[in-house]
Parts: sequence; structure tokens; C-alpha cells
Amino acid sequence: MSVSFSTFDRLKSKGVAAFQQGDFVTARGYLVDAAECMIELAEQAKTEDARRQHEEIAAELVQLAKDCDTRRGSPQAAPRIRQGEKDDEAGADASDWIVREKPDVGFDDIAGLEDVKTEIRLKMIYPFAHPALAKQYGISVGGGVLLYGPPGTGKTMIARAIAHEIDATFYLISPAQIMSKWVGEAEQNIRKLFDSAKADRTSVIFMDEVEALVPRRKSDSSTVMQRVVPQILQELEGFDRNGQRALLFVGATNKPWLIDEAMLRPGRLDAKVYVGLPDAPARFKMLEIYLGKKPLAGDVDFGELCDRLEGYSGADIRNIVQQAAQIPFMEAIGGGEARPITRADMLRVLEDTKPSVQPSDLTRFEKFAQTGS
Ligand SMILES: Nc1ncnc2c1ncn2[C@@H]1O[C@H](COP(=O)(O)OP(=O)(O)O)[C@@H](O)[C@H]1O
Ligand SMILES: [Mg+2]
Repeated sequence: MSVSFSTFDRLKSKGVAAFQQGDFVTARGYLVDAAECMIELAEQAKTEDARRQHEEIAAELVQLAKDCDTRRGSPQAAPRIRQGEKDDEAGADASDWIVREKPDVGFDDIAGLEDVKTEIRLKMIYPFAHPALAKQYGISVGGGVLLYGPPGTGKTMIARAIAHEIDATFYLISPAQIMSKWVGEAEQNIRKLFDSAKADRTSVIFMDEVEALVPRRKSDSSTVMQRVVPQILQELEGFDRNGQRALLFVGATNKPWLIDEAMLRPGRLDAKVYVGLPDAPARFKMLEIYLGKKPLAGDVDFGELCDRLEGYSGADIRNIVQQAAQIPFMEAIGGGEARPITRADMLRVLEDTKPSVQPSDLTRFEKFAQTGS
């Protein structure tokens, strides 16, 4: 269905009126609808200038809608990126394959991964904090980062934490879902996603298993893939890298060597960061994070555990701790005394648990790190 400026005006006026009356719940609803309406109008705009103007208005409305959340005291992420009457349009609601949220996990909750944290500070935090310096040195904001490494090392977790650190809206999208559900509408949905993300002041689009969406073109015959890959590349290059808004595209993969080379060129997923197994300090921090708040016996020695956990991933370590905690928990449920977790509990689980990542897997990643393929 098509939208008109009069629809937009009506929605905006109602939103603004409610805002002025202090009814922020109602205001938010109208403002979001008005913003979406404007995004729609921007898509139909005849000139580039008009399109940009419309997008700016939409962004302002989104900002105002966010203000409603703050004012009413309990910020709430909009569960769907498209709302209201326009959902029936083309039969596709992007909310089915896009999760939009405001994550509450931060950098402090993540052990290690200092390279990733540094890269993000450089791309997203410092340029905003020091705009004059950034301009002087031609440092642009946003861009693309590829996180690659074995499973369970915190790639998904840190993508969320990035959004938290920069107070950005987080979009989680699954290429597998785009492909399976929306064949034929994939292009349209990708455009909606990027439009919506661009309307936010800062946003993080996270695509997990990014290799599934963009396999090397020669080996893939799907036509959807052939249309979608160039479109995503184009959207990535369309980022406004010097403006007041920033969009960070984070891709994650366990199989970086399967990614389309075009995706890795400058201006795209050009910053590649290896997310490997945790080193000793990171393992120590994980023990503090996962074990530190639980009741512990005096014989639990983090230094010893840290050594024994070499070769285990973050996900492994979290699981080991959880299983160890279950031992006294089950005893207590069975009528026993509630005792703390002991060294023996930890070692028992450790001995039964193999690291999920093999040394040979690591060799493959090292080759990619050195040769890029
Ligand atoms: N560096 C880390 N610091 C703290 N916890 C971690 C770390 N890496 C992994 N974990 C734990 O393992 C879980 C799975 O990690 P995840 O981010 O899904 O890994 P990946 O996306 O690399 O497969 C996380 O939710 C977290 O509980
Ligand atoms: Mg993951």
C-alpha cells in the first residue's frame, strides 16, 4: 500500500500532541508510525536530496520516540522494526527475521577479546567522543568488522556488547532465515533493514554465520544469492561515514574461508578480527565471572583451574562451571545440606569434558589469518 504526506502529517500531529500532553506511551506509537511513514516516502522520493531530507525527518522522529521511552522511565526496545498498518504490505514483515533489541551485556562482562574491544573503540567510540579530532585526521565512523574464530569464543556475545557500549540499537539477522523464508523478498527486506538501521543514530547490524549468506559466488548457483550479495555490498558502501549517525556492520563466522572475497574488500567487512580461545588472563576472568558469585569451598584455586582449562573455549568454561554447580545443588534438593562448590566438583566435571575445539581447527584459522583464505 502507498503512503501519503497527509497520513504522515496526521500521525506526526497526533504524536506531537500526545508528547506535549505528557502521554509518552501514545506519543511513541504515533511517532514510530510517522517515522515509518516517512521512511516509506523517502523510498519513493524522486530526487536524492528529497530522499535525504525525508530520511532526516524520519530519524528525528525516531529520536523523539526514543525520548518517549526515557521520559516514561522504562526504556523498551521496539520488538518489531515495522509496525502498524503497513505490515500487510507485500505480505512480508521483517520482524520475523530481524530481532531488534537493546542488549544489556557490556564489555566488562566479556573476558579477553582486547583486539575486538580496541577495534570497536577506534571505529565507534572515539570518533563520537572526539568529533573535532576525528575530522582533523579524517577518521570516519562506523564500517564493517568481521569476527572469525572457532565456536563458543564469544563472537555473538561481543556483538551484543558493542551495541550496549555505544548505546546502539542492535539488529540480529540470520542469513539462513532470510534465504529460507523470504526467497523473492530478500532484497526488499534487506533494504528495509538498512533503512531502519540508518534512521537510528547508532545501530549495529549483526549477521551471524555470515558465510551462509555470502558464499563465494562461483560455488553458489542460487539466484537469490546472486542478487542479495551485491545489494548488501552496496548498502555497506552507502554508509555515511562522516555524519552524525553511524552504522556498524558486524559479521561473524566459524568458516571465514567460505566468505565471498568481495565482502572483505575495503569499505566492507574490512576489519577482520580473530576471536580465538581465551588466554590465561581471559580464562581467569571467566572463572571470576562465572564462578565468582557462587558459594565456593576454600580449596577452589582459580590459578590451578585456569591452567587446567587451557584449550577450552568460553562456552566450554561456562558449561563446566554450570555442571559443577549442579552437583551440590542436586544434593541439596535431594535433602542434603547446601554445601559450597568444591575443587573436587570442578575437577570431576573437567575430567569428563573434552574441549570443543580441536588443535587442528586452530591451524585452519591460523592459515586464514596469515593468507586470507
Ligand atoms: N570471552 C568470553 N567471556 C565471557 N563469556 C564467554 C566468552 N566467550 C564465550 N562466553 C560464554 O559462552 C557463551 C557462548 O558464546 P557465543 O558468543 O555464542 O560464542 P560464538 O558466537 O563465538 O560461537 C556466551 O554466551 C558466554 O556465556
Ligand atoms: Mg555465535
